[in-house]
Amino acid sequence: MRGGARQAVILAGGQGTRLRPLTLARAKPVVPILNRPLLAYQLALLRAHGVSDVVLACSYRVDDVRAALGDGQRLGVRLRYVVEDEPLGTGGGARRAADLTAGPLFVLNGDVLTDADLTAMRRLHEARGSRTTIFLQPVDDPRQFGLVETDANGRLRRFREKPTAEEEITTNTINAGIYLIDAPLLARIPPDRPSSIEREFFPALIAEGITSYGWCPRTYWRDLGDPVAYRAGNIDLLEGRANMPLSPPGERRGGSWIGAGGSVADGAQVVAPSVVGAGAVLGRDCRVGPGTVLGDGAQVGDGARVEGAVLWERVAVGAGAVLERCVVGADVKIGARARIGPEVVLESGAVVPDGATRSR
Ligand code: GDD
Ligand code: MG
Repeated sequence: MRGGARQAVILAGGQGTRLRPLTLARAKPVVPILNRPLLAYQLALLRAHGVSDVVLACSYRVDDVRAALGDGQRLGVRLRYVVEDEPLGTGGGARRAADLTAGPLFVLNGDVLTDADLTAMRRLHEARGSRTTIFLQPVDDPRQFGLVETDANGRLRRFREKPTAEEEITTNTINAGIYLIDAPLLARIPPDRPSSIEREFFPALIAEGITSYGWCPRTYWRDLGDPVAYRAGNIDLLEGRANMPLSPPGERRGGSWIGAGGSVADGAQVVAPSVVGAGAVLGRDCRVGPGTVLGDGAQVGDGARVEGAVLWERVAVGAGAVLERCVVGADVKIGARARIGPEVVLESGAVVPDGATRSR
């Protein structure tokens, strides 16, 4: 095996502000995607590409992350944590975590869901003698991202993080949030003050002419920045739009995944593709799916309908309630005959009275 990157740092210290209220109850890196913590997918991807030594750069709600992922053993990786007392930004976070590693390194934003072929990325990095390679993707609206211009050979020409002036929106190719960086370069980032890898580190590399490339494969990619994207990411995986190395927990049955220990009353249907968590109790004549995720311990009342929705753990849906394309936090109680409309987000612990309607 060549000396190619076998270690990674995952930036997992953001507050997940745009994903509120979901991130009030749980750190963004471990919000559930098909009943597994988000980072489990990144760790599985890294592992599938020969990277099993991973450092998490954390600062916000670290206990959630530790509780969900532990030392990584169950996921087949060695996980270490570096905790910033004060957030050091994407630059300082990467730098501090990278101090535990040696050699070239993958650095990942902890909130992207992708099946990118990291082996191909590593190959390109080595073949071109690149010192920093950035995973790029085309998007419809690049404003919320880092805009990256490359030349005809893929060499980086410009990196502009979330430009506001219209004339600076010069490309729809954006930073997809995974980098391969030669270790010595990271020593340029100050370890003890907040800094931005996007606003400081990349532009400086380009200005100094350090060989850096973009890598823009056709692949599945989604930033889980807000609740709409979060729900869509779940649905993408349910519908098999990504080639993930990790499938949902549960037994595959009729195109869905059904967890252990639950019960299904007469006339209840699970319409594929859906995921039903362990211990879920489905009442008579209810319908779950298509495109639905029920967390562990869910209860769906008689005649209720849950479609295109993502429910966290222990949600109780009253009899005759209708939930459509929404996201429901843990331990929420939804009354009988309540209606929850598209893109509604119910915060963990919320209570919706009988017959109430929630819409956006
Ligand atoms: N350790 C640590 N410390 N991590 C942090 C900190 C910090 O102070 N601040 C943010 N992070 C982590 C977040 O948890 C997230 O995983 C990652 O760094 C990126 O931060 P976001 O806040 O999610 O940034 P963004 O989504 O607005 O933009 C970034 O991602 C886009 C692609 O999804 C940028 O990298 C853009 O250039 C990029 O296009
Ligand atoms: Mg983000």
